[in-house]
Amino acid sequence: MTPTNYLTKACLSAALLLGLVMGELESALALTAAQFNHGLGTGINLGNALDAPREGEWGVTLEANYFRQIHQAGFTHLRLPVRWSSHAGQPAPYKLDPVFTERVRWAVHGALKNNLKVVLNMHHYEEFESDPDAHRERLLAMWRQISEEFKNEPRDQVAFEIYNEPAKKISAVFWNDLFAEALAVVRKKNPKRIVVVGPVQWNSISALDTLKLPSDKNLLVSVHYYEPFHFTHQGAEWVGEEGKNWLGTTWSASAEQIAALKSDFDKAQKWAQTHERLIYLGEFGAYSKGDMDSRARWTESVRKAAIDRGFSLAYWEFCSGFGAYDPASRSWRKPLLNALHAHFMLDHAKRPGN
Ligand code: GLC
Repeated sequence: MTPTNYLTKACLSAALLLGLVMGELESALALTAAQFNHGLGTGINLGNALDAPREGEWGVTLEANYFRQIHQAGFTHLRLPVRWSSHAGQPAPYKLDPVFTERVRWAVHGALKNNLKVVLNMHHYEEFESDPDAHRERLLAMWRQISEEFKNEPRDQVAFEIYNEPAKKISAVFWNDLFAEALAVVRKKNPKRIVVVGPVQWNSISALDTLKLPSDKNLLVSVHYYEPFHFTHQGAEWVGEEGKNWLGTTWSASAEQIAALKSDFDKAQKWAQTHERLIYLGEFGAYSKGDMDSRARWTESVRKAAIDRGFSLAYWEFCSGFGAYDPASRSWRKPLLNALHAHFMLDHAKRPGN
């Protein structure tokens, strides 16, 4: 072997060794889905803002101080619902409106600057829900763009959620197939980012068994909880006339009610254990037409049921119809905040130096 050959070989071996060490180091340092889920902790949905047809149309226009308020109240993440479909071209290539994309980026950065992790989703693509086949390519094209636009966001702080509450005409078979394809699109530019996915039927626990996932370790499985629906959605305008008949429904945390709640959450936990997945309770909340005592009791009980099972969670929502925060008085609704156990941080935030 000539000295040059020897040197080349030695360099190659050293490079290989370094590569191996770096690889090992990277995988040792790589944040697992379990760590990410743990870090999400208790969050809140910034609902009815960027998921309205146009921001402001549903009464919520985001303000920079909201991110600070949410952090100071002790929440550790923000779920950001976004109606991308109102801000993308209709013919291919379905280009996203850059002004809207910048607005979303502003919100993501507002959260990050305030130590809030982010779950960035796609919400209320109504045309897709009524005709999934016709809108499949457009949805994928939007994710191609979103995943490019947000690929540089820190992987340990920002997760993507492909679609909120697949329902109506979206069958489980269609959804499993579409999700795998959308994930492959996202993976091109975000190979290891945490991606959130929930089952059909509005992410209900009872539909978990229909969910078939690709063997990707960086997924969190989301469920939403609004049971008993007649209690949480009493008087909700979007459920129709029937919702008025449920007005006055209370929730007393009776033994029977707690048992029903635990049994629902046990199902989710059992599914997660069997499938070696982690659960993110991405939405739960009771509408403002119910009495506050019942709402607070329910919120606290649901929160406890989630925490006891190691689920991360996000209350639905910040300052609209379910709001834990009253935008008119610019203050938290204490019974709800207490139920979410975020109040101690609020007191802490008031101390000098914070
Ligand atoms: C879902 C809907 C949202 C609604 C909430 C409670 O997330 O997307 O608009 O307010 O559930 O019904």
